[in-house]
Amino acid sequence: MLPQITEHQSLDAMTTFGLHSTADYFAHAKSAEELDALIVWADERGLPVKFLGGGANTIAKSRVEGLVIRVEIKGFSTEEAPNGDLLVKVGAGEVFDDIVRRTVAEGFGGLENLAAIPGTVGGAVVQNIGAYGVELAERLVSVTVWDRTVKAERVLSVPECDFAYRHSIFKTPAGQNLVILGATLRLPKVWTPILGYRDLDAELKLEDRSVEMITAAEIEAAVRAVRGRKLPDPHVIGNAGSFFTNPIVTKVFWHELLTTHPNLVYYKLGGGRMKLAAAWLIEAAGFKGAKRGAVGVYENHALIVVNHGGATGEEIIAFSDEIIAKVKKDFGVTLEREPVIL
Ligand code: EPU
Repeated sequence: MLPQITEHQSLDAMTTFGLHSTADYFAHAKSAEELDALIVWADERGLPVKFLGGGANTIAKSRVEGLVIRVEIKGFSTEEAPNGDLLVKVGAGEVFDDIVRRTVAEGFGGLENLAAIPGTVGGAVVQNIGAYGVELAERLVSVTVWDRTVKAERVLSVPECDFAYRHSIFKTPAGQNLVILGATLRLPKVWTPILGYRDLDAELKLEDRSVEMITAAEIEAAVRAVRGRKLPDPHVIGNAGSFFTNPIVTKVFWHELLTTHPNLVYYKLGGGRMKLAAAWLIEAAGFKGAKRGAVGVYENHALIVVNHGGATGEEIIAFSDEIIAKVKKDFGVTLEREPVIL
């Protein structure tokens, strides 16, 4: 019942950042029962418990105290909803991109804009991953969790998960007792493409053709091509995708900033708020391609912090603190880190 627990386990290969890191204790959990047994084991010893999925959005410190549990709960099943939509039930440990490939290949659109995002389903839910106008929360019906306080499974509705831009309850103190076991997605029977992002539309050569002809498979391929060109492959250069979220500011603040920085890149949101392109702020603050030892900002995209080899989580955090301080000084905007710290 209790899975094997290893001491002083290297986590170097378990995050896409490839940071040099050792966990005091480490184990894999392939079911809710194994997860519970491991949590009990750690609780009895007063050890903190931390969870890892695909490690795609994780900054692992050099020493991770307590027990790290890698959630490897598998599962993929589909069912037709009364209105013909496809309900897809997936385990937290499934690779999210496999779900994208599989559902699009089976003729169901809905996840194609989220193609090529590394990590597991569990990580995707924590982070409410988003790309090219789609956020995972829009495709979710519910999330199944292990509630450590009551030692039982619970099914959370989407509102209960408190999703927002790159945010969920699982990132907050209120969600610390909840471990994601799986999720149910809803993919529409009547599919419509979500377009409108310049890079994606250009890849699809939309100017020469009618939108009615576009398929989900084509969008999936286009998203893979665009991401493949823009973002560094974590197998080649360690990274966690966008390192900061795009800051949301008031219209009044945005307007003031625009008068002093007319080239500022931004997107209009509802409710009188504006989203600023963090990449633009970081580049304008002089960090694009910058290096501090093994840590740097990717030379082709200012929002990606990279590990050039052998970096630690502490170095990543220190460098990102430097970026945060300079952007604050230059623009009065406080950037927030996207990855979670282990
Ligand atoms: N820009 C610069 N310098 C750069 C790169 C970009 O000034 O080095 C400016 C450009 O003007 C560009 C703008 O920043 O138009 C925005 O850049 P981009 O279109 O690459 O998108 P992003 O805001 O950097 C967001 C998500 C990505 C997602 C893409 C596409 C966040 C934090 N990031 O990136 O998500 O794939 O849009 O939807 O919201 C991730 O979260 O890990 C991620 C990759």
